[in-house]
Amino acid sequence: MIIRPRRLRRSRTIRDMVRETRLSKQDFIAPLFVKPGRGVKEPISSMPGQYHFSVDTVVKEAEALWASGVVSVILFGLPDRKDASGTRSWAEDGVVQQAVSAVKGALPDMMVITDVCLCEYTDHGHCGVITNGEVDNDATLALLARQAVSHARAGADTVAPSDMMDGRVAAIREALDSEGYQNTLILSYAVKYASAFYGPFREAAESAPQFGDRAGYQMDPANTREALKEVELDIREGADMVMVKPAMPFLDIIVKVKEASLLPVAAYNVSGEYAMIKAAEEKGWLDGDRSMMEMLTSIKRAGADLILTYFAKTAARCLDADMP
Ligand code: PBG
Repeated sequence: MIIRPRRLRRSRTIRDMVRETRLSKQDFIAPLFVKPGRGVKEPISSMPGQYHFSVDTVVKEAEALWASGVVSVILFGLPDRKDASGTRSWAEDGVVQQAVSAVKGALPDMMVITDVCLCEYTDHGHCGVITNGEVDNDATLALLARQAVSHARAGADTVAPSDMMDGRVAAIREALDSEGYQNTLILSYAVKYASAFYGPFREAAESAPQFGDRAGYQMDPANTREALKEVELDIREGADMVMVKPAMPFLDIIVKVKEASLLPVAAYNVSGEYAMIKAAEEKGWLDGDRSMMEMLTSIKRAGADLILTYFAKTAARCLDADMP
Protein backbone atom coordinates (compact mmCIF):
# COMPACT_ATOMS: atom_id res chain seq x y z
CA MET A 1 0.00 0.00 0.00
CA ILE A 2 1.17 3.51 -0.76
CA ILE A 3 0.19 6.39 1.55
CA ARG A 4 -0.94 9.09 -0.88
CA PRO A 5 -0.80 12.68 0.47
CA ARG A 6 -1.58 13.79 -3.09
CA ARG A 7 -5.23 12.75 -2.62
CA LEU A 8 -5.64 15.95 -0.58
CA ARG A 9 -4.23 18.06 -3.41
CA ARG A 10 -6.16 16.85 -6.42
CA SER A 11 -8.75 19.60 -6.67
CA ARG A 12 -9.05 23.22 -5.71
CA THR A 13 -12.01 22.31 -3.52
CA ILE A 14 -10.16 19.81 -1.36
CA ARG A 15 -7.09 22.04 -1.22
CA ASP A 16 -9.24 24.92 0.01
CA MET A 17 -10.87 22.66 2.61
CA VAL A 18 -7.60 21.51 4.15
CA ARG A 19 -5.73 24.79 3.84
CA GLU A 20 -4.03 25.62 7.16
CA THR A 21 -3.39 29.33 6.71
CA ARG A 22 -5.80 31.84 5.24
CA LEU A 23 -5.12 35.48 4.57
CA SER A 24 -7.94 37.88 5.20
CA LYS A 25 -8.29 41.57 4.48
CA GLN A 26 -8.40 42.37 8.20
CA ASP A 27 -4.81 41.16 8.42
CA PHE A 28 -3.52 44.09 6.41
CA ILE A 29 -2.33 47.52 7.48
CA ALA A 30 -1.50 49.85 4.58
CA PRO A 31 1.38 52.34 4.99
CA LEU A 32 0.73 55.80 3.49
CA PHE A 33 3.07 58.79 3.09
CA VAL A 34 1.72 62.30 3.61
CA LYS A 35 3.35 65.59 2.64
CA PRO A 36 2.25 69.22 2.61
CA GLY A 37 0.21 70.64 -0.26
CA ARG A 38 -3.07 69.99 -1.98
CA GLY A 39 -4.02 67.55 -4.71
CA VAL A 40 -0.64 65.80 -4.43
CA LYS A 41 -0.28 62.24 -5.71
CA GLU A 42 3.33 61.79 -6.74
CA PRO A 43 4.73 58.35 -7.55
CA ILE A 44 7.59 57.09 -5.36
CA SER A 45 10.11 55.83 -7.90
CA SER A 46 11.65 53.12 -5.73
CA MET A 47 8.21 51.73 -4.89
CA PRO A 48 6.08 51.46 -8.04
CA GLY A 49 2.38 51.81 -7.18
CA GLN A 50 3.08 53.85 -4.00
CA TYR A 51 2.65 57.62 -3.76
CA HIS A 52 3.28 60.72 -1.76
CA PHE A 53 -0.12 62.15 -0.87
CA SER A 54 -1.30 65.44 0.58
CA VAL A 55 -3.91 65.52 3.33
CA ASP A 56 -6.83 65.74 0.87
CA THR A 57 -5.63 62.94 -1.41
CA VAL A 58 -4.61 60.66 1.44
CA VAL A 59 -8.25 60.70 2.55
CA LYS A 60 -9.25 59.53 -0.94
CA GLU A 61 -6.69 56.75 -0.75
CA ALA A 62 -7.88 55.70 2.70
CA GLU A 63 -11.44 55.63 1.35
CA ALA A 64 -10.34 53.43 -1.55
CA LEU A 65 -8.59 51.10 0.89
CA TRP A 66 -11.64 50.96 3.15
CA ALA A 67 -13.86 50.22 0.12
CA SER A 68 -11.54 47.38 -0.82
CA GLY A 69 -11.88 45.91 2.68
CA VAL A 70 -8.60 47.12 4.20
CA VAL A 71 -9.53 48.44 7.65
CA SER A 72 -6.28 50.00 8.82
CA VAL A 73 -3.60 52.43 7.67
CA ILE A 74 -0.31 53.59 9.17
CA LEU A 75 0.65 57.17 8.37
CA PHE A 76 4.16 58.53 7.80
CA GLY A 77 4.84 62.25 7.45
CA LEU A 78 7.20 64.27 5.29
CA PRO A 79 7.26 67.59 7.13
CA ASP A 80 7.43 71.08 5.63
CA ARG A 81 10.80 71.59 7.33
CA LYS A 82 13.32 69.63 9.37
CA ASP A 83 15.51 70.65 12.29
CA ALA A 84 17.91 69.10 14.80
CA SER A 85 15.25 67.89 17.23
CA GLY A 86 12.39 67.17 14.82
CA THR A 87 10.04 69.76 16.26
CA ARG A 88 7.56 69.40 13.38
CA SER A 89 6.86 65.86 14.54
CA TRP A 90 4.62 67.04 17.37
CA ALA A 91 3.16 70.18 15.72
CA GLU A 92 -0.63 70.51 16.03
CA ASP A 93 -0.70 71.54 12.36
CA GLY A 94 1.84 68.90 11.26
CA VAL A 95 1.06 66.82 8.17
CA VAL A 96 0.42 63.61 10.09
CA GLN A 97 -1.76 65.32 12.69
CA GLN A 98 -3.85 66.89 9.90
CA ALA A 99 -4.03 63.64 7.98
CA VAL A 100 -5.12 61.69 11.05
CA SER A 101 -8.00 64.02 11.78
CA ALA A 102 -9.04 64.17 8.11
CA VAL A 103 -9.00 60.37 7.71
CA LYS A 104 -10.82 59.81 11.02
CA GLY A 105 -13.36 62.48 10.05
CA ALA A 106 -14.11 60.68 6.78
CA LEU A 107 -13.79 57.11 8.09
CA PRO A 108 -14.45 57.03 11.84
CA ASP A 109 -14.22 53.23 12.00
CA MET A 110 -10.89 52.94 10.24
CA MET A 111 -8.02 51.92 12.55
CA VAL A 112 -5.62 54.81 12.06
CA ILE A 113 -2.08 54.14 13.24
CA THR A 114 0.78 56.63 13.26
CA ASP A 115 4.48 55.93 13.05
CA VAL A 116 6.21 57.61 16.00
CA CYS A 117 9.84 58.41 15.22
CA LEU A 118 12.03 61.44 14.66
CA CYS A 119 13.96 60.35 11.56
CA GLU A 120 11.57 61.92 9.06
CA TYR A 121 11.65 65.19 11.00
CA THR A 122 15.32 65.65 11.90
CA ASP A 123 17.75 67.36 9.52
CA HIS A 124 20.41 64.72 10.36
CA GLY A 125 17.96 61.85 9.64
CA HIS A 126 18.53 59.94 12.88
CA CYS A 127 15.68 58.55 14.97
CA GLY A 128 16.64 60.58 18.03
CA VAL A 129 18.36 63.80 19.03
CA ILE A 130 22.14 63.98 18.81
CA THR A 131 24.36 64.78 21.79
CA ASN A 132 28.15 64.69 21.27
CA GLY A 133 27.75 62.92 17.92
CA GLU A 134 25.57 60.14 19.35
CA VAL A 135 21.85 59.45 19.39
CA ASP A 136 20.85 60.46 22.91
CA ASN A 137 18.41 57.85 24.19
CA ASP A 138 17.01 59.57 27.25
CA ALA A 139 16.72 63.03 25.72
CA THR A 140 14.76 61.49 22.86
CA LEU A 141 12.11 59.83 25.06
CA ALA A 142 10.33 63.05 25.98
CA LEU A 143 10.16 64.10 22.32
CA LEU A 144 8.70 60.75 21.24
CA ALA A 145 6.13 60.97 24.04
CA ARG A 146 5.20 64.46 22.91
CA GLN A 147 4.81 63.29 19.32
CA ALA A 148 2.66 60.31 20.39
CA VAL A 149 0.38 62.55 22.46
CA SER A 150 -0.03 64.95 19.53
CA HIS A 151 -1.06 62.02 17.31
CA ALA A 152 -3.55 60.82 19.93
CA ARG A 153 -4.93 64.34 20.27
CA ALA A 154 -5.45 64.44 16.48
CA GLY A 155 -7.47 61.23 16.82
CA ALA A 156 -5.02 58.38 16.16
CA ASP A 157 -6.31 55.06 17.46
CA THR A 158 -2.84 53.55 17.74
CA VAL A 159 0.67 54.94 17.96
CA ALA A 160 3.56 52.84 16.70
CA PRO A 161 7.03 53.83 17.97
CA SER A 162 9.71 52.74 15.47
CA ASP A 163 12.74 54.53 16.89
CA MET A 164 14.25 51.66 18.98
CA MET A 165 15.14 53.88 21.96
CA ASP A 166 15.20 52.01 25.28
CA GLY A 167 12.25 52.78 27.53
CA ARG A 168 10.12 54.50 24.93
CA VAL A 169 7.02 52.34 25.33
CA ALA A 170 6.87 53.19 29.04
CA ALA A 171 7.51 56.88 28.36
CA ILE A 172 4.78 57.00 25.71
CA ARG A 173 2.27 55.02 27.82
CA GLU A 174 2.80 57.30 30.76
CA ALA A 175 2.42 60.45 28.67
CA LEU A 176 -0.72 59.16 26.93
CA ASP A 177 -2.32 58.17 30.23
CA SER A 178 -1.50 61.44 31.93
CA GLU A 179 -3.09 63.37 29.03
CA GLY A 180 -6.26 61.28 29.17
CA TYR A 181 -5.53 58.95 26.26
CA GLN A 182 -5.85 55.67 28.17
CA ASN A 183 -7.57 54.06 25.18
CA THR A 184 -4.87 54.84 22.64
CA LEU A 185 -3.14 51.60 21.70
CA ILE A 186 0.61 51.14 21.40
CA LEU A 187 1.86 48.93 18.60
CA SER A 188 5.53 48.69 19.41
CA TYR A 189 8.13 48.07 16.74
CA ALA A 190 9.62 45.83 19.40
CA VAL A 191 11.98 43.90 17.17
CA LYS A 192 13.41 46.15 14.50
CA TYR A 193 16.54 45.03 12.74
CA ALA A 194 19.15 47.29 11.14
CA SER A 195 18.13 46.12 7.68
CA ALA A 196 19.18 46.90 4.13
CA PHE A 197 15.57 46.27 3.12
CA TYR A 198 14.52 49.74 4.32
CA GLY A 199 16.34 51.33 1.36
CA PRO A 200 13.30 52.30 -0.73
CA PHE A 201 11.46 53.64 2.35
CA ARG A 202 14.25 56.09 3.07
CA GLU A 203 13.71 57.58 -0.37
CA ALA A 204 9.93 57.55 0.19
CA ALA A 205 10.20 59.20 3.63
CA GLU A 206 13.31 61.28 2.87
CA SER A 207 14.77 59.90 6.08
CA ALA A 208 18.22 58.51 5.22
CA PRO A 209 20.73 59.30 7.99
CA GLN A 210 23.11 62.08 6.93
CA PHE A 211 26.02 60.52 8.84
CA GLY A 212 26.68 57.05 10.21
CA ASP A 213 23.95 54.41 10.24
CA ARG A 214 21.26 53.06 12.52
CA ALA A 215 23.21 50.07 13.86
CA GLY A 216 23.66 51.84 17.23
CA TYR A 217 19.95 51.50 17.95
CA GLN A 218 18.41 49.00 15.51
CA MET A 219 19.18 45.31 16.05
CA ASP A 220 21.82 43.07 14.52
CA PRO A 221 20.08 40.70 12.04
CA ALA A 222 22.14 37.84 13.46
CA ASN A 223 20.40 37.93 16.85
CA THR A 224 17.42 35.93 18.10
CA ARG A 225 17.61 36.08 21.89
CA GLU A 226 17.92 39.83 21.78
CA ALA A 227 14.60 39.91 19.92
CA LEU A 228 12.92 38.04 22.75
CA LYS A 229 14.46 40.40 25.27
CA GLU A 230 13.08 43.43 23.39
CA VAL A 231 9.62 41.84 23.27
CA GLU A 232 9.71 41.04 26.98
CA LEU A 233 10.67 44.62 27.84
CA ASP A 234 7.97 46.12 25.63
CA ILE A 235 5.32 43.88 27.15
CA ARG A 236 6.44 44.94 30.61
CA GLU A 237 6.36 48.60 29.56
CA GLY A 238 2.74 48.29 28.42
CA ALA A 239 2.74 47.59 24.68
CA ASP A 240 -0.62 46.34 23.36
CA MET A 241 0.84 44.70 20.25
CA VAL A 242 4.38 43.90 19.20
CA MET A 243 5.94 44.00 15.76
CA VAL A 244 8.78 42.23 14.00
CA LYS A 245 10.44 44.11 11.15
CA PRO A 246 11.34 43.27 8.38
CA ALA A 247 9.13 40.22 7.81
CA MET A 248 10.37 37.85 5.13
CA PRO A 249 14.05 37.60 6.16
CA PHE A 250 12.94 37.16 9.80
CA LEU A 251 10.18 34.54 9.64
CA ASP A 252 11.96 32.46 12.30
CA ILE A 253 11.83 35.47 14.61
CA ILE A 254 8.08 35.87 14.02
CA VAL A 255 7.59 32.22 15.05
CA LYS A 256 9.56 32.73 18.25
CA VAL A 257 7.92 36.05 19.16
CA LYS A 258 4.50 34.46 18.69
CA GLU A 259 5.47 31.63 21.05
CA ALA A 260 6.98 33.98 23.60
CA SER A 261 4.14 36.50 23.91
CA LEU A 262 0.41 36.58 24.48
CA LEU A 263 0.00 39.85 22.56
CA PRO A 264 -1.08 40.15 18.95
CA VAL A 265 1.99 40.01 16.73
CA ALA A 266 2.44 42.24 13.70
CA ALA A 267 5.08 41.92 11.00
CA TYR A 268 6.24 44.71 8.68
CA ASN A 269 6.61 43.54 5.10
CA VAL A 270 8.98 46.42 4.37
CA SER A 271 9.72 48.60 1.37
CA GLY A 272 12.59 46.42 0.10
CA GLU A 273 10.42 43.29 0.20
CA TYR A 274 7.85 45.18 -1.87
CA ALA A 275 10.39 46.69 -4.28
CA MET A 276 12.08 43.34 -5.01
CA ILE A 277 8.84 41.77 -6.17
CA LYS A 278 7.81 44.86 -8.15
CA ALA A 279 11.20 45.03 -9.88
CA ALA A 280 11.23 41.33 -10.77
CA GLU A 281 7.64 41.62 -11.99
CA GLU A 282 8.56 44.59 -14.21
CA LYS A 283 11.34 42.54 -15.75
CA GLY A 284 8.98 39.63 -16.30
CA TRP A 285 11.03 37.44 -13.96
CA LEU A 286 8.31 36.75 -11.39
CA ASP A 287 4.53 36.60 -11.34
CA GLY A 288 3.98 39.58 -9.03
CA ASP A 289 0.57 38.67 -7.64
CA ARG A 290 1.42 35.03 -6.96
CA SER A 291 4.75 35.94 -5.34
CA MET A 292 2.99 38.51 -3.22
CA MET A 293 0.31 36.10 -2.00
CA GLU A 294 2.90 33.42 -1.24
CA MET A 295 5.01 35.89 0.70
CA LEU A 296 2.06 37.25 2.70
CA THR A 297 0.80 33.73 3.42
CA SER A 298 4.26 32.77 4.70
CA ILE A 299 4.29 35.75 7.05
CA LYS A 300 0.89 34.77 8.42
CA ARG A 301 1.87 31.09 8.63
CA ALA A 302 4.88 32.08 10.72
CA GLY A 303 2.50 33.63 13.24
CA ALA A 304 1.80 37.24 12.28
CA ASP A 305 -1.72 38.31 13.21
CA LEU A 306 -1.28 41.57 11.35
CA ILE A 307 0.84 42.45 8.34
CA LEU A 308 1.91 45.97 7.49
CA THR A 309 2.27 45.83 3.74
CA TYR A 310 2.41 48.11 0.70
CA PHE A 311 0.58 45.27 -1.06
CA ALA A 312 -2.57 45.73 1.09
CA LYS A 313 -4.84 46.98 -1.68
CA THR A 314 -3.53 44.57 -4.32
CA ALA A 315 -3.76 41.63 -1.92
CA ALA A 316 -7.34 42.57 -1.03
CA ARG A 317 -8.11 42.55 -4.76
CA CYS A 318 -6.53 39.11 -5.17
CA LEU A 319 -8.60 37.80 -2.25
CA ASP A 320 -11.73 39.19 -3.94
CA ALA A 321 -10.73 37.37 -7.11
CA ASP A 322 -10.50 34.21 -4.98
CA MET A 323 -6.87 33.74 -5.79
CA PRO A 324 -5.40 30.92 -3.69
C1 PBG B 1 11.28 55.03 10.68
C2 PBG B 1 10.84 53.84 9.97
C3 PBG B 1 11.51 53.11 8.98
C4 PBG B 1 10.61 52.19 8.48
C5 PBG B 1 9.43 52.32 9.21
N1 PBG B 1 9.59 53.34 10.14
C6 PBG B 1 12.85 53.28 8.37
C7 PBG B 1 14.10 53.16 9.08
O1 PBG B 1 14.21 52.68 10.21
O2 PBG B 1 15.06 53.60 8.47
C8 PBG B 1 10.88 51.23 7.35
C9 PBG B 1 9.71 50.82 6.56
C10 PBG B 1 10.00 50.21 5.24
O3 PBG B 1 11.15 49.98 4.83
O4 PBG B 1 9.01 49.94 4.57
N2 PBG B 1 11.97 54.89 11.81
